[in-house]
Amino acid sequence: MAQIIAIANQKGGVGKTTTAVNLAASLAVLKKRVLLVDMDSQGNATMGSGIQKNDLLYSVTDVLLGEVPIETAITKAEVGYKVLGANRDLAGVELAIAEQDGREYILREALQEIESSFDYIIVDCAPSLSLITVNALAAVQGVLIPMQCEYYALEGLADLTQTIDRIQQALNPDLEIVGVLRTMYDARNALTRDVSEELEQYFGKKLYDTVIPRNVRLAEAPAHGLPIIYFEKSSKGAVAYLNLAAEMLKKSKVKKGSNA
Ligand SMILES: Nc1ncnc2c1ncn2[C@@H]1O[C@H](COP(=O)(O)OP(=O)(O)O)[C@@H](O)[C@H]1O
Ligand SMILES: [Mg+2]
Repeated sequence: MAQIIAIANQKGGVGKTTTAVNLAASLAVLKKRVLLVDMDSQGNATMGSGIQKNDLLYSVTDVLLGEVPIETAITKAEVGYKVLGANRDLAGVELAIAEQDGREYILREALQEIESSFDYIIVDCAPSLSLITVNALAAVQGVLIPMQCEYYALEGLADLTQTIDRIQQALNPDLEIVGVLRTMYDARNALTRDVSEELEQYFGKKLYDTVIPRNVRLAEAPAHGLPIIYFEKSSKGAVAYLNLAAEMLKKSKVKKGSNA
């Protein structure tokens, strides 16, 4: 059974897509079978994986509309993992499925068909809480929340945890926060350190030890359609995302062990 994880935060620009792409690539480097699902009509995770969003024969839109089986819509990226891509067509799906029975569970049911082929399925979410994002949160076991350590990050926190609680109660009892990730981290900045401390208090063990530094290479890599590890593998950003993948694997091993 795959671990299915959404990368979500209602705030835009906090590093969701950067994390989705680079975590997927790093897990693949660590020999895991990975599928990256792009649930944002901007298609940034698709492009960042080296796939032209406008040339997709099939995308996640076709899967949500029930037009093709999920296997057909999955493409193989040249960067070690597979991608269920998205483009602007996804923006029209919301209306098309709004009246449908089981509209919140379309992605969940599709992923059930293929999850045995993967160790990890990473779902990149858009910042809005649309029916598309609800489909993502209803389909996963855990949410990874990237957070920029700035003052306003804390403001959105209550909203975010409330949203997750609501979806857990209404749609997905298994849903939990798997981890909170500090992104664009600048250790020299006093505010970063203060916010970081508050996050530690609020989330405890859920806060990853690994932090993602602000690193210009991470911002440049998508323009080349490459995860950072294939763009500049010795950069701080590449090392950080590899460390995150390793930390995640270690935590899931500990968890499995304690259940046995
Ligand atoms: N650690 C980082 N260092 C430098 N730039 C980053 C970092 N993480 C993300 N970025 C840049 O910040 C912007 C927003 O990141 P993105 O991952 O697209 O956020 P989101 O998906 O949450 O909107 C992008 O231009 C991205 O390249
Ligand atoms: Mg994004």
